[in-house]
Amino acid sequence: MRKREQWASKVGLIFAAAGNAIGLGNLLRFPSKVALYGGGAFMVPYFVALFLLGLPLMVLEWVIGRYAGAKGHGSMTGIMGSLFHHANWARVLGSLGVAIPFLIVCYYIYIESWTLGFAVLSLFGQMPKPVSTQDPKVAMEPYVSFFREYTEPSVLAVLFLVITLLVNWYILQRGVVKGIELTAKVGIPALLLMGVFLMVVSLSIRGGKGLEGLLYIYTPDFSKLGDPQVWLEASGQIFFTLSLGMGAIATYASYVKYREDVLKSAFWTAGINEFVEVVIGASIAIPAAFAMFGAMAVPELAKEGTFRLGFMSMPAVLMALPFGWLLSAVWFFLLFIAALTSSLALTQPLVSLFEDEMRWSHTKAVNVSMLMVSVGAFLSAFVPGFIDELDFWAGTLMLVFFALVEIIVF
Ligand code: ALA
Repeated sequence: MRKREQWASKVGLIFAAAGNAIGLGNLLRFPSKVALYGGGAFMVPYFVALFLLGLPLMVLEWVIGRYAGAKGHGSMTGIMGSLFHHANWARVLGSLGVAIPFLIVCYYIYIESWTLGFAVLSLFGQMPKPVSTQDPKVAMEPYVSFFREYTEPSVLAVLFLVITLLVNWYILQRGVVKGIELTAKVGIPALLLMGVFLMVVSLSIRGGKGLEGLLYIYTPDFSKLGDPQVWLEASGQIFFTLSLGMGAIATYASYVKYREDVLKSAFWTAGINEFVEVVIGASIAIPAAFAMFGAMAVPELAKEGTFRLGFMSMPAVLMALPFGWLLSAVWFFLLFIAALTSSLALTQPLVSLFEDEMRWSHTKAVNVSMLMVSVGAFLSAFVPGFIDELDFWAGTLMLVFFALVEIIVF
């Protein structure tokens, strides 16, 4: 059996796993869902889903990942195989757990490249100038056009996509310890700092009006609890934010030492992720929009989805503040780090499949994986509707189905 890499330190392992889970889901998807599906009342199905589905599945993926990792398998293909004497049906079924993260990363990494692009453009003063008004439509107008032109895609969008792909490529090429673990050890503390900083900024906009916004989104509307859609959305959010049913957590777990306390790791991963979601994620984009545009604007913004909230409303708010260019840059860098540590985790199952099951060298495994991801990312950039299709099939439906498979198998 070939020697597989192992996480070099406990802190590194926890940060890498937290980075796996923390992503755009925490900072953009979650606040939109809370605002849309009942505010504080959404937290009832959310926590039910966390305790009944999220935590058990998190522990499950850590346990099977560690088990199979000790036998030399890190992708779901190999993990499922090793649970059933390498039966073909198990390996085929497990391969879904490699296909899902791959399909997700194909569009995820394209959105990640927007965050890098917008961060750099903010830093160099290239974002549109803010319009001083409290009318959200008028204030957002320049940013809506800017976003449309950028994602057409513009030459800049393609350039930043290439840069983002190369950054992921380089980190994965350096391997689990020198690449992924090191990135997480630097990235996650930076992410926490930037997140807390922006949380304070957002909550204090207009002399604390942001704080009212936070209270506003957590005000419960219990009438929503009778709507099954709200329960489905809450469970879907738990799967997505914790990276469950994607095979990504199990792959990271396959690189632990066999004696590692995976129960602890599972709870740390979920705990840090929930902090970044429920505390930091809820306290930035929506409260900022509330403070700037008023309560009426919030449901509208949430309905129009995560892109409007993150890429149009947030720059419109931040650019209107003193040192707006810097605040906007910090916001997009925060999103970039969150997305980067997740895109690495979503690609690693494929790398592991090639290394562990096909016995390819690390270099070849990463090169082929990243070539495949690059093709998918370019399709996301150029084929209209591709992102939505992938997000629906892989990011919403398939991961719930695969989680069910994992539970039955376990
Ligand atoms: N768990 C990752 C996120 O929240 C995929 O974005």
